[in-house]
Formats: sequence, structure tokens, C-alpha cells
Amino acid sequence: MKGRKQTVEKRRQKYKKFFYNQRELHKLLKQYGGDILDSENFNKTKEYIQHGNMTVNHHCIDVAKCSLAISRKLRIPCNRKELVRGALLHDYFLYDWHDKYHRDVKNLHGFYHPGIALRNASKEYKLTPREKDIIKKHMWPLTVVPPQCREAWIVTAADKYCSLLETVGLHKGHGRSMGELRKRQRAKVQY
Ligand SMILES: [Fe+2]
Ligand SMILES: [Fe+2]
Repeated sequence: MKGRKQTVEKRRQKYKKFFYNQRELHKLLKQYGGDILDSENFNKTKEYIQHGNMTVNHHCIDVAKCSLAISRKLRIPCNRKELVRGALLHDYFLYDWHDKYHRDVKNLHGFYHPGIALRNASKEYKLTPREKDIIKKHMWPLTVVPPQCREAWIVTAADKYCSLLETVGLHKGHGRSMGELRKRQRAKVQY
């Protein structure tokens, strides 16, 4: 009985720590990227699927949180503001890459979307050289030229980690399937 109580208490502490960490990470995201999170175009990415049933919006937020967690865990000194903003905008390509209309793009999506994301982000935000490097190089080694700053290396690693979890189904979105999202998009087009 005592052993069971200890296990329950340990689990409670673990969850408490997890939610505390998530709250802290979310606070930092709001602090450094609040304008991006609240923007109309960034919220449009809730309509696009990244992997599985994970939306691009949710994926970018996860990559930003994961990047902060990596830099903290490994004690890598970096500019947190640029890290967060670059991570939030790293997949700012603003189209559904599974859509048949983007089939041409889809085939080479991995190669071209960092450039498209950078172009879109540059139109709306004044990007620093580090933020540009994060967006442009996050698909390395596909981009051939490696990242030039720590922040870009961290986001590249975080993006790969999050994408892997999403692809193998270990990290799922908010339950909306791609079929449901497609239906919503089609309904919107008809109106
Ligand atoms: Fe990407
Ligand atoms: Fe990504």
C-alpha cells in the first residue's frame, strides 16, 4: 500500500513538473513571438496538415518549445528571442503541401519550402540574419549549406525530432484527421 502511494505521488510530481515546464515554455513563446502567434496568417496554418493529423501551426509551436528545451537542457547559450521567432516561422510556407494543386511543389517540397517560408516571413516581419538562417537552413542536409549559427542548429535538430514523433504517430495533433480538415477546406471554398 505504501509502495503504491509512493508511485502515485511520484507520478503526480512528474505531471506537475511537466505542466509547469510547458507553462514556462508557453510564456516564453508569448513573450518573444506573441505578435506571430496572434497574427492572422500564422493562425491560417491551423488549416494545413504537417504530418499525421498534426497541423503546421501545432508543429511550429512544438518545434519552438522543443528548441527552447534543447538549449536549456544542453545549456547552449543562444538568443532566445531569435530562436523562438525563427522556429515559429520555419515552416511559414502557407499552403497545404499534400494538396493536389501543390503536387508539383509537394514532390520537391522538402527542398523548396524553406525558401518559400523565408519569402513569406520577410514580407510580414523584419527578420534578423539569425532568424533568416534558421528558416533557410532548417531542412539541412537537404539545403546543402549547413546552418551558420547555434540557433539554426538547435531548430534543425528540434524540427527533425518533432517530425519523427509526428510521422511515427508518437505525437498526435488535436484529433482532427486530414480528411476532416480537407472537408472543412472544401466547404470553405464552396461558400
Ligand atoms: Fe520544414
Ligand atoms: Fe518543420
